[in-house]
Amino acid sequence: MVMRVLGIETSCDETGVALYVAGRGIVAEALASQTAVHAPFGGVVPELASRDHIAKLGPMVRHVLAEAGTAPAELDAIAYTAGPGLVGALMVGGAFAASMAYGLGVPAVPVHHMEGHLLASRLEADPPEFPFLALLVSGGHTLLVHVAGLGRYRIIGETLDDAAGEAFDKVARLLSLPYPGGPALAALAESGDPGRFAFPRPLRGQGLDFSFSGLKTAVRLAIDAERERGTLDDDVRADIAASFEAAVVETLADKCRRALAATGLERLVVAGGVGANRKLRETLEALGREEGFAVHYPRPALCTDNGAMIAYAGACRAAGVSAEAAPAIVARPRWSLEDLVPPAAEGVPASAAIEAH
Ligand code: KG4
Ligand code: ZN
Repeated sequence: MVMRVLGIETSCDETGVALYVAGRGIVAEALASQTAVHAPFGGVVPELASRDHIAKLGPMVRHVLAEAGTAPAELDAIAYTAGPGLVGALMVGGAFAASMAYGLGVPAVPVHHMEGHLLASRLEADPPEFPFLALLVSGGHTLLVHVAGLGRYRIIGETLDDAAGEAFDKVARLLSLPYPGGPALAALAESGDPGRFAFPRPLRGQGLDFSFSGLKTAVRLAIDAERERGTLDDDVRADIAASFEAAVVETLADKCRRALAATGLERLVVAGGVGANRKLRETLEALGREEGFAVHYPRPALCTDNGAMIAYAGACRAAGVSAEAAPAIVARPRWSLEDLVPPAAEGVPASAAIEAH
């Protein structure tokens, strides 16, 4: 594994920078959230995201290197999120990383954002061994992935409509909660009664795919009915939040249990922003104890978008990558995990290795 890798994450609305050192782990990191930039619009505005990444990246890289006491010339590779994500935001990180790598004469390593999420729990004290089942739950994805090894991914379940995080965000909006909705909805649910509203558990007991749009509609109808009756007070809003959260968590847990049974895998790794949800973590841990499988999840700060997971995934992939005369900037807004292959053989440029599909 390559010694010192700088990781840059700019796929959406967080700017993340971190330095990974083999044998030591993440030695310095910085994260800048664009929540305040997008809050007035109730969602991410792509052009504003790109501009904010441009403003933040330089100072953040300088800060991380200074904190680690590392000079740019000591870096062995620069890893960056190459997709999936917002194309403009990806281009900012890619252009920055490729230029810096070119200037230093080191490889620029394009990283798949979801592979970063998948591997994040390996930065923790008790890293999961391969093979494992991964539940990737973020704002854009809800996937069950059979992970046989690095770059050996098979998607065995996915959402047919909304992603889990997207459902959290949309229901949060219906409840007039501030952006970003997921954490706000989870906080409101803490004081609510999860048994008050019997929302559907979509596709429960059927296959490994997910569906959340019907659940969202059921919540909307319940909110409309309460509002019409004039009973939509703070207690009822908390009960709706708790009942919705319970429906999502139960559905996710049910699919994990079925996927583990179907594959015979004994380890479950939870990743992505919704993995920060306390109720989900508690429910999966209890299920693991009951059914005898191990559950791994990174600390909440490593579940949501960050530079550390990109630095680490880049380190895992950098060994076979050579510096290019003029590195291509890889930016792939849509990119399936199944297109990835195991790390390249010695000397194959990163862009060629990563685009082999
Ligand atoms: O992985 P992530 O940071 O960004 C993407 O790659 O999408 O995930 C963000 C998603 C958002 O939908 C956010 O509302 C959700 O994760 N999220 C949560 C919680 N924290 C973040 N959803 C439920 N409970 C939470 N505690
Ligand atoms: Zn993410």
